[in-house]
Amino acid sequence: MANQIPEEVIEEIRKANDVVDVIGEYVQLKKQGKNYFGLCPFHGEKTPSFSVTQEKQIFHCFGCQKGGNVVTFLMEMENFSFYEALKHLADRAGVQLPEQEYRKESSLSGENQSILSAYEWLTKLYHHLLKFTKDGKAGYNYFKERGINEEAVDAFQLGFAPNVKDFTAEFLEKKGFHQQLLIKAGLLSLQDDHSVTDRFRGRVIFPIRNHLGKTIGFGGRAIMEQEPKYLNSSESELFQKGKLLYNFDLAKRHIRKQNEVILFEGYMDVISAYQAGFKNVIATMGTALTENQAKLLRRYVDTVILCYDSDNAGLEGTYKAAELLRKTGCQVKVTNMENGMDPDDFIKQFGAEAFDNQVIKASDTYMGFYMRYLKKDYHLNLEGDRIEYVENVLKQLAMIDSPIEREYYLKELSNEYSISLDTLKDELNNNRQEAGIHKDKREKNRYTNRGSSFTKQRKLLPAFHNAERQLISYMLQDVNITDKVQEEIGAAFNVDEHKIIATHLYAFYEAGHPADVSLFIEKLSDQRVKQLVAEIAMAPVLEDISDQVIHDYIRIIRAEMSDKVSVKSLKEAQKLAEQQNDPIKAAQIAMQIIEIRKQWEQSN
Ligand code: CTP
Ligand code: MN
Repeated sequence: MANQIPEEVIEEIRKANDVVDVIGEYVQLKKQGKNYFGLCPFHGEKTPSFSVTQEKQIFHCFGCQKGGNVVTFLMEMENFSFYEALKHLADRAGVQLPEQEYRKESSLSGENQSILSAYEWLTKLYHHLLKFTKDGKAGYNYFKERGINEEAVDAFQLGFAPNVKDFTAEFLEKKGFHQQLLIKAGLLSLQDDHSVTDRFRGRVIFPIRNHLGKTIGFGGRAIMEQEPKYLNSSESELFQKGKLLYNFDLAKRHIRKQNEVILFEGYMDVISAYQAGFKNVIATMGTALTENQAKLLRRYVDTVILCYDSDNAGLEGTYKAAELLRKTGCQVKVTNMENGMDPDDFIKQFGAEAFDNQVIKASDTYMGFYMRYLKKDYHLNLEGDRIEYVENVLKQLAMIDSPIEREYYLKELSNEYSISLDTLKDELNNNRQEAGIHKDKREKNRYTNRGSSFTKQRKLLPAFHNAERQLISYMLQDVNITDKVQEEIGAAFNVDEHKIIATHLYAFYEAGHPADVSLFIEKLSDQRVKQLVAEIAMAPVLEDISDQVIHDYIRIIRAEMSDKVSVKSLKEAQKLAEQQNDPIKAAQIAMQIIEIRKQWEQSN
């Protein structure tokens, strides 16, 4: 592997970062038996086929075949270079990565690295101005008036961009940044007359961080009459609103722990809620929730609480977001605040406790929300509308999996619209049949159904192929078994990839390494081989394997090999017989080949 970081250091870093913990920061993992399972972050799926073992410190996805160790995971997940992955893990574990002239390959272009650096400088500068200078006083007072405390100002690195045409431009150009780059970064604006001015002027600044905590954009809010109310950095390779969620980097730990996330519409809602003690809080930034964001959330949580403004736009946004999240497989809950309020207003007016009890804890199920949402299209004092409304609700209710929830809303409809429960039930069951849902369909646990789907995915392999995989999985965890296999068959496996793995493994043990799959993967350079090793190592193996079983595997592998060899020589003999115009001999040989093939089929 191309790096000059000493092996001991790599080892130390790898050991200090448990693969389950690290991957757990990206994927909600549930333990089943020895392994952990979750939704694969590398390909879209609704039932988990992504597995991680703590014991072996590796991961593997049975769906898309990606696999490797903790370093590989970060390289795939974050697009990190090897160095960046190690640096990230070193920081994470508080291990010193000795500062030397390593080849610090970066996954970012030089330009993007400069943009990040410009944002880092500016975040600090704007924050400093807000807190400590006369120029920033207006911004400071603005946040004070909106009830934002000092701790939140610091946590969110809130700042102020002074109302000067070229304050930012001058500051950054002095630091050596080029004007063109700053325009690209969305920090300077090119005017119609080709002059260049600061993009953010006389606005309070909300730095927008990516999931790694790096500022990649700003939201600037006007503090006086100024249009637009919010001005954001322009979209760029680094700053794509549809892929970002405000405050995700700080919130993700809490989101994971609580298995629940509160999704807001705006910066101020997040900050208010944060200040009121809610840490699992994030927001979209003035755009509708995207599929990309929904999928990201799905990997982290089961339940998303939608807490949008309670105006019409908020209601529409909630509906669209709820549909999308449900399609992605999330449970959705929806808060219900007095008309016209936004979460920030509510917290300010009624306090944190009321927000928790009356808004968050009192949030509607999706169905409850849907009934409320649908009402706006009907005049429910009209008989015709009422019937249509109830029919519509029943259609949606038919799709709800939980019988308890269905029953609950049927009762509610029955009471509210004075329709007998039986009539409603009949209609609902009709709907369910029409939608092809079986009446007594049990809610299936996503995690218990796993076994069958795996075996289905995997093609049935011939016996020798399985024998080789099994044998390798034992070799991966036992040096003695490996020695024995090496003695008996060397690298004479039938499957080419297995040959490669065996050869590497012999060298690995010969170099004095212990049986350690994660370390072994580290030493391999071919991505496909790495993945295959992870996959094979994931297979369950017996703790105490008898010599007999190992011997049997070896026998199967050998038999296959010798059959192959004999078929090959027979084929050559057949060809020769044909060339020598000896059809009888050729036919006899052909029979022999068929006989061997038959035996294969029987033994496989
Ligand atoms: N937004 C934006 N551009 C706008 C308006 C809104 O980018 N012109 C985004 C911002 O991220 C904002 C969010 O949409 O936080 C929600 O908008 P809005 O409800 O208008 O803002 P609030 O969060 O309520 O902000 P404030 O309380 O400061 O008015
Ligand atoms: Mn708002």
